Amino acid sequence: MTVRPIPGTVLSEAAFERAKGVTPGGVNSPVRAFRSVGGTPRFIARAEGAYLYDLDGNELVDLVCSWGPMLLGHAHPDVIGAVADAARRGTSYGAPTVAEVDLAAEIIDRMPVEQVRLVNSGTEATMSVLRLARGVTGRNKIIKFAGCYHGHVDALLAAAGSGVATLSIPGTPGVTDATIADTLVLGYNDRAAVGKAFTDFGDQIAAVITEAAPGNMGVIPPSIEDGVGFNAFLAGTAREHGALFISDEVMTGFRVGRSGQFGLDGVRPDLMTFGKVMGGGFPAAAFGGRADLMQHLAPVGSVYQAGTLSGNPIATAAGLATLRLATPQVYQQLNQTSALLRAEVRAALDAAGVPHVIQNAGNLFSVFFVPDGVTAVPDYATATQQSTAAYAAFFHSMLRSGVYLPPSVYEAWFLSAAHDDRALNRIVDALPAAAAAAASASG
Ligand SMILES: Cc1ncc(COP(=O)(O)O)c(C=O)c1O
Repeated sequence: MTVRPIPGTVLSEAAFERAKGVTPGGVNSPVRAFRSVGGTPRFIARAEGAYLYDLDGNELVDLVCSWGPMLLGHAHPDVIGAVADAARRGTSYGAPTVAEVDLAAEIIDRMPVEQVRLVNSGTEATMSVLRLARGVTGRNKIIKFAGCYHGHVDALLAAAGSGVATLSIPGTPGVTDATIADTLVLGYNDRAAVGKAFTDFGDQIAAVITEAAPGNMGVIPPSIEDGVGFNAFLAGTAREHGALFISDEVMTGFRVGRSGQFGLDGVRPDLMTFGKVMGGGFPAAAFGGRADLMQHLAPVGSVYQAGTLSGNPIATAAGLATLRLATPQVYQQLNQTSALLRAEVRAALDAAGVPHVIQNAGNLFSVFFVPDGVTAVPDYATATQQSTAAYAAFFHSMLRSGVYLPPSVYEAWFLSAAHDDRALNRIVDALPAAAAAAASASG
């Protein structure tokens, strides 16, 4: 697509050219490349509170928040203080620390898990939890849902959301047929399909893994039918067949509320994965669950899992500080900010006549640029009906007004506690022009 050059991006453009020479696509994670919206990614020089500052000196209200981790905003002084203190005591020991125990305890305090193991990324958490589920049950098959993204774990890259959806990559070369042969991909919120899969393969299914509330195909809340939520249905069905229910709260955990999506629907999984917010902007993640399952991990059990930098003291310090600062007031403020923004975006798009659907799970929300007549997005198939051209026009208009949205129509919008009136006013003021741009692009 052709995108008008944005003034004031000369240094980012030069950096991007240099980056492309030394790194595939110039980025270290695909969605950062702006491929689906076009144009040059902004190279970030620093960030503070609700703002990113790019190389060219532009101040941008950040609605990506590092794809979720920056719940308190950038460079929160208490988090930076904790990190600096930790760094002065040494950056990695490869031996246990009290802070790791404290971080595990903070997670157990908020989430329905009895034990956790710390790892370095959400991908590592989901990869490890699958191995554990298969090791414990002695079964091979896994159910996942189309459009759910659980990191770039080979077995879970079948019909994944996030960058895989953004770049319209149908499957991923390098993942062998054998690797995904045991992955059953079903439509999200499709209870009949789940029932059929268990009827057909019940005694071979080790686990059902789902995003607790998907955020990687846009935000899709679990459906409620006859008072039973989709997560409760999955947990019940899995247990009936001796399979495990794994809830991936890498994105939702500690973000949509103090206890993540579990705090919203109360469904107790057998195993869970965490990441993003719990690392406070550093590489830290975790998986956890019932103690009798976690006890199968080495060194007590026989399922092997390990990591040189797992429980790294700096990441642990950042995560601990972040979780301790994430008070109920923070979540209350995020809920209010999210409700206000959702209303403002809806009003602007309605005024410009742009068909859309806005969905949320707690404060996490996204805007679907779906065709007129679509009133809800329950699954990935519906999400793919969106107009990427309308979103690209909307995105670039917002960027020109100093607002940094996710550079893909399939991603959630992330807020922080640092988004104050000044930041919100900038967003609200930018909306009418962006909605008009989206209207011309779709019309
Ligand atoms: C729900 C979910 N699970 C797992 C991951 C993978 O985490 P990471 O990027 O830290 O490997 C992500 C990343 O966006 C995610 O959103």
